[in-house]
Amino acid sequence: SFEVALARSCVTLQVTAGKTILETMREAGIDMPSSCEQGACGTCLATVIEGEPDHQDVYLNDAERKSGTKIMTCVSRARSARLVLDL
Ligand code: FES
Repeated sequence: SFEVALARSCVTLQVTAGKTILETMREAGIDMPSSCEQGACGTCLATVIEGEPDHQDVYLNDAERKSGTKIMTCVSRARSARLVLDL
C-alpha cells in the first residue's frame, strides 16, 4: 500500500493493494471525474507534486511519463511510499 496526500483538499489517504487511487478518493468522498477507468482516456489525470508515480496507463507519452508530474488515478500507482497530488 502507499499514501496519497491531496494537497488542496488537506486529506491523506492509504491506497491498499486491491484498490485504485480513484476508488480510494471516491470512498473518502472526494469527487474526481473519470470515464474509461482503464488508463486510456485522460479524464482522471492529476498533477503530481511529490513522489514517484508507477505509471500503468496508456495515455501519457514518454516525456510526460519520465517527468513524473502527471498521473492517471484510475490505474497508476506509486513507486514511492507517498504521493502528493495537486487535488
Ligand atoms: Fe480514463 Fe482514467 S478514467 S484514463
